Amino acid sequence: MAEPKKLFIKTYGCQMNVYDSSRMAEAMGEDGYVLTENQAEADMVLLNTCHIREKAAEKLYSDLGRLKPFKAEKPDLKIAVAGCVAQAEGEEIVNRMPLVDLVVGPQSYHHLPAMARGEGPRVLTEFPAEDKFDHLPQNRATRRAPTAFLTVQEGCDKFCAFCVVPYTRGAEVSRPVDRILKEARDLVARGVREITLLGQNVNGWHGLGDSGREWHFGRLIRAIAEIDGLDRIRYTTSHPNDMTDDLIEAHGAEPKLMPYLHLPVQSGSDRILKAMNRRHTAVDYLRLIERIRAARPDILLTSDFIAGFPGETDQDHADTLKLIEDVGYGTAFSFKYSPRPGTPAAGRECVPDAVADARLQEMQALLNRQQKATQDGMIGQRVNVLFEKSGREAGQMIGKSDYLHSVFVAASDIQAGDLREVEITHSATNSLGGRLI
Ligand code: SAH
Ligand code: SF4
Ligand code: F3S
Repeated sequence: MAEPKKLFIKTYGCQMNVYDSSRMAEAMGEDGYVLTENQAEADMVLLNTCHIREKAAEKLYSDLGRLKPFKAEKPDLKIAVAGCVAQAEGEEIVNRMPLVDLVVGPQSYHHLPAMARGEGPRVLTEFPAEDKFDHLPQNRATRRAPTAFLTVQEGCDKFCAFCVVPYTRGAEVSRPVDRILKEARDLVARGVREITLLGQNVNGWHGLGDSGREWHFGRLIRAIAEIDGLDRIRYTTSHPNDMTDDLIEAHGAEPKLMPYLHLPVQSGSDRILKAMNRRHTAVDYLRLIERIRAARPDILLTSDFIAGFPGETDQDHADTLKLIEDVGYGTAFSFKYSPRPGTPAAGRECVPDAVADARLQEMQALLNRQQKATQDGMIGQRVNVLFEKSGREAGQMIGKSDYLHSVFVAASDIQAGDLREVEITHSATNSLGGRLI
């Protein structure tokens, strides 16, 4: 029998790209490709890219540069670019980097196997009318981990002034209830105990449930929670304007829904929120947080922030720091504004670089203090940990707590997939240590 062909995948960007990469691996698997961790032995290299900030997009070109000698040595090596840079730049990628054989956008990747066989176009960035999920093989949870992602919604209609996602992922589409439930059941049957539901605007998901009634996201979560053998449900990313009463209620009522919520706000200044087209005020957001905490008092909150959005003044920045103080986050991501071609804010006058850098640093210092305080506050508490893999030291296992903290435990009798109660004993920079109860 011929040696199987080897596929190396590098994934940049968000969790949805991680999910897409595993679905592409499964699709290529039907054509006899097996995954390799070693790029040097690959017959095909697939780069699944992110376009969210300039730095993220530039990584593609430096990685392609590094692939040149490999391609020179092995002319049969196929190089494919997928994801959001593929969607945004399409043909330009092959013009700039002729060593690229294939370019495929996030809504067309079910055509990748045919394209790799030479039966399709070289560049495919259409938003097809058909649903790619109908043409992909079953999600087989290739990572064989106790946790898995499941995309339920894709695309975005919000058009925040800074963001490329509505252009790279297209309009909001919700997957149908029956497909989602089937995929979730299949994952659980393969040993998955925790599912993270994914969408660019995941809480905007809606669909027709049984008896033709319209379901919103909270209802979907409750239906997934009914699957025996599934212990935990998470979801990301949400928009504040789509946090419905139903979903907030689910946080109080559904024990499988983990006490963790990533709810990006971007800024604490009403002027900037308006300029960003976020369509809510800082007070709207704070009131929403109050309602969520009333439903689930121990919920750990995280967010995204942008420093140096065009027009941002010192006062706007101070308002953002104030909002961060008022909320008290478990952790959060903060980014320096990066103008993205084709977005409404791209032409606006930028805040001087040094000013944006200083604001970013100030924001990160505050968020780091909050993260440390949250982690230190866990010491002495008992949490449930779903163990995922062994740690660097012998006999050490790592898992995630309900609050998504990484927790290390020294215990030789634990397997990946075990869910155990742990008492937290210490806090490190980005993880917690504990002992089994
Ligand atoms: N769909 C998600 C994620 C969007 S991208 C959401 O709506 O929250 C993740 C984060 O990247 C955003 O929340 C934002 O903080 C940041 N981001 C997006 N575009 C950016 C840009 N042009 N410059 C800097 N940060 C950006
Ligand atoms: Fe981008 Fe805004 Fe949509 Fe999030 S809600 S994906 S930040 S446009
Ligand atoms: Fe990046 Fe596209 Fe995700 S731009 S953040 S890979 S949706």
